Amino acid sequence: MEYRKMMTLKGGDIKKAINLLREGHPVAIPTETVYGLAANALDPDAVLKIFKAKNRPHFNPLICHLPDWEAVIKYVADIPADAEILAKKFTPGPLTFLLGKKPIIPDLVTAGSPKVAIRIPAHPMTRELLSLLDFPLAAPSANPFGYVSPTTAQHVYEGLKGKIPYILDGGECQIGLESTIVDFENGEVIVRRKGGIAVEAIEQALGKKVLVKTESEDHPVAPGMLKSHYATATPLYVGEVEVLAKNFTQKKICLIEFGEKRAELPAFARFQLSANSSLDEAAKHLFKTMRQADKCGADVILVEWLPEEGLGRAINDRLRRARFIDKPI
Ligand code: TXA
Ligand code: MG
Repeated sequence: MEYRKMMTLKGGDIKKAINLLREGHPVAIPTETVYGLAANALDPDAVLKIFKAKNRPHFNPLICHLPDWEAVIKYVADIPADAEILAKKFTPGPLTFLLGKKPIIPDLVTAGSPKVAIRIPAHPMTRELLSLLDFPLAAPSANPFGYVSPTTAQHVYEGLKGKIPYILDGGECQIGLESTIVDFENGEVIVRRKGGIAVEAIEQALGKKVLVKTESEDHPVAPGMLKSHYATATPLYVGEVEVLAKNFTQKKICLIEFGEKRAELPAFARFQLSANSSLDEAAKHLFKTMRQADKCGADVILVEWLPEEGLGRAINDRLRRARFIDKPI
């Protein structure tokens, strides 16, 4: 099939999604975090189509999605005790486990790493889909590489139309931020990406502190942790919005605020992440709001930092990476 001129359909037809996936085609699927662009993880040709549609570099490995924790042992060599504890508490859900892979997982999926990323998503439609397939689904977020992740079927359509045959529409994603990625090394638990499960919740479940190592500039362990990611086309700045605004007095400013409105600041457009200052609600609205801000016709987007706690830490991480100022060339 020629992916460049393809007709992209969206709808709620799980059977259609299954048939396409079995034939080796990529299909966008809903999850509780963000939409994923899925293909048969055991078929390198199918996986290559994901990289092609997203324009994603091949050194960036993909998460494998499975219907339940019982299925994991078919694909990983061993499961550390801490992983079992976290699985019991947080799966199905927005937590991804880095575990030693069995040879059945192609090297293309892990970008040559001996570890595979495993996730059990909670979205009912995708759980049903996975339970009807006899292979894991490799799925990165369903956006062109480097752009903001999609939280609706329409977002996927806008980014990938003409490049994939089908988008399984499961409504708006309820968490809105990608999964938290945890790694296990020498008895330590390491958070490699902050996401839908707060670091505090992981520590509480384990009854111990974890390491948080999410920045790796030269050779990223999780390349989604590359410094520039999730970026809008409109320059985005994060900080004290009143101070930032002074640099842009001649420009059309789009303001993204967490809770309370700052009426004294004139703005061309303004968005609020959560009327009642809920971090969970802000997480759900973040990517959608970034897309709206990008399209509203403003020259710059100014965003304030959120409190550095709970999902606020993951939100701030995404904002840090979306920032214009430290975008590498
Ligand atoms: O919530 C999510 O995790 C979503 C949904 C679709 O499940 N997926 C997602 O995929 O965010 P992606 O590809 O956009 O981000 C996955 C991150 C990347 O930073 C990737 O480098 C890292 O996980 N990753 C995947 N496999 C890995 C591996 N074997 N070792 C280290 N990092 C890995
Ligand atoms: Mg992504």
